[in-house]
Amino acid sequence: KKVLFVASESVPFIKTGGLADVVGSLPKYFEKEEWDVRVILPKYLCMKEEWSSKLIYRTHFYMDLNWRTQYVGILELVHEGITFYFIDNEFYFGGFAPYGDVYTDVEKFAFFSKAVLSSLPVIDFCPDIIHCHDWQSGLVPVYLDNFRYGDPYYRGIRTVMTIHNLKFQGIWDTKRIQDITGLPSYYFSPDKMEAYKDANYLKGGIVYADRITTVSNSYAQEIQMPFYGEGLDGLMRARSNHLWGIVNGIDYKEYDPATDRHIFKKYTVDSFRREKKKNKAELQKELGLEENPKVMMLGIVSRLTDQKGLDLIACILDELCQDAIQLVVLGTGEERYENMFRHFEWKYPGKVSANIYYSEPMSHKIYASCDGFLMPSLFEPCGLSQLMSLRYGTVPIVRETGGLKDTVEPYNEFEKAGTGFSFSNYNAHEMLGIIRYAEHVFYDKKREWNRIAQRGMERDFSWNSSARQYERLYRELTE
Ligand code: ADP
Ligand code: GLC
Repeated sequence: KKVLFVASESVPFIKTGGLADVVGSLPKYFEKEEWDVRVILPKYLCMKEEWSSKLIYRTHFYMDLNWRTQYVGILELVHEGITFYFIDNEFYFGGFAPYGDVYTDVEKFAFFSKAVLSSLPVIDFCPDIIHCHDWQSGLVPVYLDNFRYGDPYYRGIRTVMTIHNLKFQGIWDTKRIQDITGLPSYYFSPDKMEAYKDANYLKGGIVYADRITTVSNSYAQEIQMPFYGEGLDGLMRARSNHLWGIVNGIDYKEYDPATDRHIFKKYTVDSFRREKKKNKAELQKELGLEENPKVMMLGIVSRLTDQKGLDLIACILDELCQDAIQLVVLGTGEERYENMFRHFEWKYPGKVSANIYYSEPMSHKIYASCDGFLMPSLFEPCGLSQLMSLRYGTVPIVRETGGLKDTVEPYNEFEKAGTGFSFSNYNAHEMLGIIRYAEHVFYDKKREWNRIAQRGMERDFSWNSSARQYERLYRELTE
């Protein structure tokens, strides 16, 4: 059976967040005899030269987007056994970053979605299932419905829509979206693409997809409630029979402390106590932190946005810095959070390190070096950073929401169980209380702490079990 992933980003080509990790790694983990899974992406001009120079031109054609006629180039690359297709059009994908403002993005991804469907006969790959990811591909199931009327080629294709983040929906004024997409007005009613008077790409995808999935069980439940539903909780409830929660995995080859080429000292679950310390010492030196092997080092690797619970951190950081801790931050995003961490680095030199940039190697070093990892998200569809931390024996401290709740098991000192620390209410001092409890275990019960970290390292968050669940879903749809 054939499956086509449609997404706006994928490692190793282009990444702004966890979506790229998922799209780039999951296809490798399907049973090859049964599933031919390929991926189609935009060919961004800002993609690293290292990759864009490798792409092979396949063909091109012209496509109408209402009154516009646009060039559609198709390029191809087989990477680690997976075929990736790229849709080329420099008018749409020529920017300095994959995403810009919503106004241009809605046209960009309408073009992309229609081009994907129009390309299928041209590349001679008629998938049994098109698997769409997030709002950027939300129009694919809608266009597919529209294409089916005119062309029998499209009639057998089923669709899956995966929600990685319900917060982003691709919303714009209905008139303009009608003009961009050329879709008949029939599609712009409240039971289809319209939501609160505007046109909504993700809603279209959710309404028209045969199955909907999201990236953890808890998030699948949460988005049926108003607090997490981002205005679509009613629709999520209406479609709950076709909504699956399948938790993400991570690429265990890419994120493996035993083979990681980015870190100073490689280690396994048996050698982690000795070797992890050396990574910490090295990072302290590199970042100009106080060189102290005993101090508890906390890490944050994150997009700096409201989603990630950074206002909680802002509220208690002064208090936290009175304790014997170090904090290493790596992230970019909203200016106020970037400046907040810069400010605390200035205020607590040697204690706080603010690294306001994007760096794959640095993220690996942080996962490998820190003792604890802080992720107090307001909401978190799945979260991959905490899985990476667990894999590297770095104990996650998280808020109990979405995927964080499903993947981090809170430490229980009586049962000697658990892989991390968690708190439930979105409250800064509740968080501080839990961080201090973690400090107590770290400083006063070191053996216990090490056991927590080792249990985390031994958990299996590779794609193995989740890929089987996607296969089950695909089978249900195609049989
Ligand atoms: P989200 O997708 O919401 O941003 P996830 O936890 O699912 O959150 O995934 C985040 C991914 O992005 C992880 O692979 C993390 O290591 C990476 N990441 C985030 N910020 C940075 C950064 N500044 N530098 C390097 N990697 C980063
Ligand atoms: C989104 C979510 C994150 C999830 C990722 C991959 O960016 O914010 O929680 O892990 O997608 O599914």
